[in-house]
Amino acid sequence: MSRFLSRRLENLTPYVPGEQPRDNTQIIKLNTNENPYPPSPRVQAAIASFAKDPLRLYPDAESAELVAAAAGLYGLAPRQVLAGNGSDELLAFAIQAFGGFGLAFPDITYGFYAVWAALFQVKYCQVPVREDFRLALADYADQPGTLLIANPNAPTGIALSRVEIEGLLRQNRNRLVIVDEAYADFNTENALPLLQTYDNLLIIRTLSKSYALAGIRVGLALGSAELIADLRRVKFSFNPYNINRVSEHLAIEALDDQNYFHNCRKLVIAGREQLTADLQRLGFTVLPSRANFVFAGEHEHLAAADYEAALRQRGILVRYFPELRCSGFVRISVGRPQEMTALIEATREILGKPKAGEE
Ligand SMILES: Cc1ncc(COP(=O)(O)O)c(C=O)c1O
Repeated sequence: MSRFLSRRLENLTPYVPGEQPRDNTQIIKLNTNENPYPPSPRVQAAIASFAKDPLRLYPDAESAELVAAAAGLYGLAPRQVLAGNGSDELLAFAIQAFGGFGLAFPDITYGFYAVWAALFQVKYCQVPVREDFRLALADYADQPGTLLIANPNAPTGIALSRVEIEGLLRQNRNRLVIVDEAYADFNTENALPLLQTYDNLLIIRTLSKSYALAGIRVGLALGSAELIADLRRVKFSFNPYNINRVSEHLAIEALDDQNYFHNCRKLVIAGREQLTADLQRLGFTVLPSRANFVFAGEHEHLAAADYEAALRQRGILVRYFPELRCSGFVRISVGRPQEMTALIEATREILGKPKAGEE
């Protein structure tokens, strides 16, 4: 810490992102919920043919073409959409824009929410999830501040139904509910249709997970024109050129290739169901996930921290959260079938079980 650091930042504990090893070739990386499949072939073709000369110029501060593509896809007007440098940036904008009345989110959720709230000096309340890691609507009924709900939640993967999200919106029509739908494409429903009825709903999406584009950093905010105007107020006070030319171009291609998107998400969902069954068979509790990862633990003979360490020794990275209420579980991203086979084989070995087929 230098002697020049602002006093207000002295006690800030930054977010710790999942490990990104430089050399991925020897590692099975299941620790940051990326998509195990490559982006659409159209994205690959678009990179190859991308004209370099316009890179001299600043990008379109409105990201108008990307906004139009997203609006078309989701059946919204362009003024109901804002693009961000990853959904992280949009969530940060939203907390700045709408944190004035305070903020409430579950105690077990995306760890960045509390960091942004601290950075922007927004008062926040962490509402404990129930014993089974579920959110109970009643626990939010008296929360006056803006709600921030990851749905499906991370790191549990548990989702509220659309009817339950509507319940939160109806508890108080003068309270904003921000639904972080980073993983909603791996679920069977989402909050999008509720935008027609509720102007106290803001949805945040990302291309990082279901579109396999974590590397280009593109997220989308979807909501009423008024809410989006408020977010734009923050964006244009911070970084007007938040989407670079390459990212905008590639994101449009990815959104346009819905066939590839659906095939890819189906593969991930099937992988999740298989992984859940395999881990359960080996004696793990696996929470019912609607995302592209599972939260597994509570094994009779294997502590979660030891499981994470033993997998790491075998070149498999998963995510362990030492915080007390999560410490019995590890979060495992869904990989390709061969990666899942390697994970299950390694797990059998760690548990001292014979290889599959040799029992
Ligand atoms: C719940 C949740 N929201 C948002 C994000 C951020 O995604 P990105 O900034 O890549 O769009 C993540 C990333 O892991 C996440 O888990």
